Amino acid sequence: MIKVGIVGVGIGRLHAAGYKKCPDVEIKALCDINEERLRKTAEEFGVPDVYTDYREMMQDPEIDAVSVCTPNALHAPVAIAAFEAGKHVICEKPLATNADEGRAMVEAAKKAGTIFMMAFNNRFRGDTQLLKKCIETGELGEIYYAKTGWLRRKGIPGMGGWFTTKAMSGGGPLIDLGVHVLDLTLWLMGNPKPVYVVGSTYAKFGPDLARQRGGTYDVEDLATGMVKLENGATVFVEASWHSHIQREVIYTQLVGTKGGAEFDPLRIYKDVNGNSADLIIQHPNVSGHEMEILHFVECIREKKTPIATGEHGLHIQLILDAIYESARTGKGVEIA
Ligand SMILES: NC(=O)c1ccc[n+]([C@@H]2O[C@H](COP(=O)([O-])OP(=O)(O)OC[C@H]3O[C@@H](n4cnc5c(N)ncnc54)[C@H](O)[C@@H]3O)[C@@H](O)[C@H]2O)c1
Repeated sequence: MIKVGIVGVGIGRLHAAGYKKCPDVEIKALCDINEERLRKTAEEFGVPDVYTDYREMMQDPEIDAVSVCTPNALHAPVAIAAFEAGKHVICEKPLATNADEGRAMVEAAKKAGTIFMMAFNNRFRGDTQLLKKCIETGELGEIYYAKTGWLRRKGIPGMGGWFTTKAMSGGGPLIDLGVHVLDLTLWLMGNPKPVYVVGSTYAKFGPDLARQRGGTYDVEDLATGMVKLENGATVFVEASWHSHIQREVIYTQLVGTKGGAEFDPLRIYKDVNGNSADLIIQHPNVSGHEMEILHFVECIREKKTPIATGEHGLHIQLILDAIYESARTGKGVEIA
């Protein structure tokens, strides 16, 4: 049996549901500082051990692997404690609140020699897995341009709480939603190295809305960035929690020399005998959240490198940091 512990039982409940689908996994422990939420979740998933201090949980030698599902600022301390105790780790997105914390996590994983997977759940969906295979077999040719975004009309999470407090989150919709679509886009493009970034951020609604409720809001509510990659390709990204648009949109468009692709829903655009053709490809409708946990368990069982590594998380974090830096200084940022 592979024994796991989960720290943070918000999205951590989805990790628990994924582990429950694995016959060779036991959820040995849960940890959360919210005792009521902790107790209810332990009862629901039949988990024997509960902790309010993650450092104590790491001392259980029977725990092989840990899901890090805490607010962003705790990803680094929790993951590093897990690596120091010799555990495998799957960490929720974003990797951390900044690249310095992220580098320390990647280093700790290397030292431990254990598996470090990022919970980039969108990579594990049926449509994105299918598109990745199409790209790998050359269907789109060279992808030289991409646009991606996740914009909400009204959808600031946990107004005034940790999501909108920079010290706990590292940023607003860019680090919360933009991280998902940026990761997905770069992964589909083969993870070329980012070299130059220009970005802007705005906070036109959040601070007033939070003030009315007596909470903190010191992050952006809209961010946009342009990323140049070392292979010459360009990616545009945009993310918002609150903006005057018709409705929430989540999209990715890839433009290649032999074809283009976009989703949601997945479409591939090509020329067939010189005529423009729109392809709708059937794909399994699977939950990325569940599949990522099955993949993490498979990597532990078979000692495989995960599809989404800590290094990939760091790669994305460097871009997020650079967009924030460019927005702050009004200048472009080179990534070494
Ligand atoms: N992959 C996704 O689709 C997805 C969706 C939502 C959230 N997330 C990520 O998951 C993480 C958690 O987000 P959430 O929505 O579950 O937030 P949440 O606030 O609902 O849950 C976080 C939990 O962590 C607990 N916690 C706080 N400090 C702790 C500590 N020191 N020790 C143990 N537990 C502690 C809180 O009490 C809370 O129950 C974030 O990094 C977020 O970005 C990912």
